[in-house]
Amino acid sequence: MVSSRKKTAILISGRGSNMAALIEAAKASDYPAEIALVLSNKPEAGGLAIAAANGIATAVIEHKAFGKDRAAFDAAMQAELDRHNIELVCLAGFMRLLSAGFCEHWFGRMINIHPAILPAFKGLDTHARALETGVKLHGCTTHFVTPGMDEGQIIGQAAVPVRDDDTEASLAARVLAEEHKLYPEALRLLASGALRISGNRVLRA
Ligand code: GAR
Repeated sequence: MVSSRKKTAILISGRGSNMAALIEAAKASDYPAEIALVLSNKPEAGGLAIAAANGIATAVIEHKAFGKDRAAFDAAMQAELDRHNIELVCLAGFMRLLSAGFCEHWFGRMINIHPAILPAFKGLDTHARALETGVKLHGCTTHFVTPGMDEGQIIGQAAVPVRDDDTEASLAARVLAEEHKLYPEALRLLASGALRISGNRVLRA
């Protein structure tokens, strides 16, 4: 039987806990995406071993090897994605900015998870900034990827309370537990064709 599951690549830079959540979700026979490749820009990324242990093809393309030439790095990634006939891309803790050309090529087919309720706290150190700012709700966002950092159309969001005794670590852990539920749901919706982009909004198709 020919599989209609969408061939999906996950791009990582580190421990890969969101990647692992996607891999676990895709083990269900009715999940509409198949994780066909895990690609890291860092050879030491812990997620690579988890992917390999799950029988998933892995690749490392070190951004350092390309110096400042972002377009050449993205072209090397594109070649690897093409080699595996990838249809969808999930960024999961992938800590590199992507070129506009790469984002445009994958527009509507590439998603990210960000550890904050966008548009609040774009960028890095989101949990520390949430504590500093004094917000009472924090959380995570799944969104399409566009050239602007953390600016793409929002697919889903989850909120957690900020507690008086929270540290950066305790808040991060509470948010991460929500990330592991939110991301598989976003990929499920995307891969099943349930999402439609309308301007800045993501609607059900
Ligand atoms: C996650 O919290 C993810 O939301 C965040 O990095 C962490 C990666 O953890 N991503 C970003 O900050 C992207 N700007 P993981 O490797 O265990 O999934």
